[in-house]
Amino acid sequence: VPASIRVLLVEDNPDDAELIVRRLKRGGYAPEARRVEDAAGMRAALAAQEWDVVIADHALPRFDAPAALGVLRAAGIDLPFIIVSGQIGEDAAVAAMKAGAHDYVMKNRLARLAPAVEREIRESVNRREQRRSEAALQAVQEQFRQSQKMESIGRLAGGIAHDFNNLLTVIIGYAERMLADLAPDSPRREGTEAIVRTAERAATLTSYLLAFSRRQILIYRVHDLNQVVRGVETLLQRIIGEDVTLVVHAHPDLWGVRADEGQIEQVLLNLAVNARDAMPEGGTLSIATGGVRLTEAVEPALAPGDYVTLSVSDTGQGIDPAIQSQIFEPFFTTKPVGKGTGLGLSMVYGAVVQSGGHITVTSGPGRGATFTILLPRWTAAPPGAATIPRARAFPGGHKTILVVEDHDDVRQLILETLAGGAYTVLEARNGQAALALCESLNEPLDLLVTDVVMPVLGGLELARQVTRRRPGLKVLFLSGYAETDDLNTSLLEPGTAFLAKPFTSSTLLAHVRDLLKQP
Ligand SMILES: Nc1ncnc2c1ncn2[C@@H]1O[C@H](COP(=O)(O)OP(=O)(O)OP(=O)(O)O)[C@@H](O)[C@H]1O
Ligand SMILES: [Mg+2]
Repeated sequence: VPASIRVLLVEDNPDDAELIVRRLKRGGYAPEARRVEDAAGMRAALAAQEWDVVIADHALPRFDAPAALGVLRAAGIDLPFIIVSGQIGEDAAVAAMKAGAHDYVMKNRLARLAPAVEREIRESVNRREQRRSEAALQAVQEQFRQSQKMESIGRLAGGIAHDFNNLLTVIIGYAERMLADLAPDSPRREGTEAIVRTAERAATLTSYLLAFSRRQILIYRVHDLNQVVRGVETLLQRIIGEDVTLVVHAHPDLWGVRADEGQIEQVLLNLAVNARDAMPEGGTLSIATGGVRLTEAVEPALAPGDYVTLSVSDTGQGIDPAIQSQIFEPFFTTKPVGKGTGLGLSMVYGAVVQSGGHITVTSGPGRGATFTILLPRWTAAPPGAATIPRARAFPGGHKTILVVEDHDDVRQLILETLAGGAYTVLEARNGQAALALCESLNEPLDLLVTDVVMPVLGGLELARQVTRRRPGLKVLFLSGYAETDDLNTSLLEPGTAFLAKPFTSSTLLAHVRDLLKQP
């Protein structure tokens, strides 16, 4: 069976063209040929359909092979280009090859044509495949580079956030104490309140940085995403204002996910605020839940499996493709100074990735934006006792508490707060000192309040060692930073709780009371 082949002939002489076609037929081809004799004709032919090969006469009255090569290159098309010529000098032949011709065949040796065509088509296919695999490799490398960059920015952000949490704990703690001591009409009240307010705003930003660096301590539970969406719907409606219509498509039979409800709410809020900002003239914000089964790894970061999808779309101005790879980076913003911090999507990104999920964005200028989040489907039974104690008025008893914290000011603040709650308080400035103190202590110990991240002996290991000798000891972990995933599982143990830094005196006391009350 002759191989069909689409041949674009650059040739002014119909007889010569006929000769070439006949030669190709004899060489085992079924050519579909079209003849052009100038640049305009060639451009039109290239635009009209795809071709397998260009066969060009070297010199035409109004056109020639080098010019034809120029047209081909300008169109950005890589096709085998073979020159067929009656008389071509060696210099002209070399020049043509240099200009990008792949071969030339003399008119009196046309038997060479079919084999030349076959070889050049094969090589052209090879070139195309090589280009494709190079592009694929480049994409993978780019992805890797991007994830490395996010990783290192994350480490940096996490470190800063960790230190900030300690500083903010002290600032908020003492400012609150000052407030409590001030007379209701004190002229210093306003300023002190401003300190607390501002420090709390700083704490929110810090928590976004932490989320981005995936060091946020997450309280995982199994959730129905529909319920989470429903829970924030009223709030979202208020945030986006009257000019934006909120549409929710909740999948009626949604799989469960294992995620931190508070974080998912934050994710929705941040995406909604961005959508609102992108639609100053109004529009529609759509939130949809669903499920997807991935049978093969779509990309390295996305393993095959079942995923619950949460998509948030708007009809706003869209995102320029040139910046789409940057929008998740901390502090990347296109908003004016004072309007955006560039931390919203960083928080979203970190929260999603830390939960084992994946986020993508599709958008273009004027086409709105759709953020799609995939969270792994969770099938296991919900874990039990991961409860966070709530604040409750309860008088402190005569209990003994050991406070272990390497940051001096934070430790001092905790000591003062607990002493104010009528507890007997012991202190240690690191894990080892705490261990030694426990060894020498003959009195009963009721509660260990310990920082998680400390040099040498961290809070988790300290708690493990101390509770081995003193079973029934309650433990309250303090941290603004999850060093490992350990903490999330230890949270599930009864008699332990976790409090994120920065915290207020009243929440610290509430946690302590709740723990001590547990049997
Ligand atoms: N829905 C959207 N439509 C158009 N552009 C968006 C959308 N969401 C995000 N962007 C772009 O991504 C940038 C980063 O978003 P991100 O939420 O991280 O920061 P921000 O909104 O600028 O500031 P912040 O959220 O901290 O107040 C935005 O400045 C904006 O350019
Ligand atoms: Mg934002």
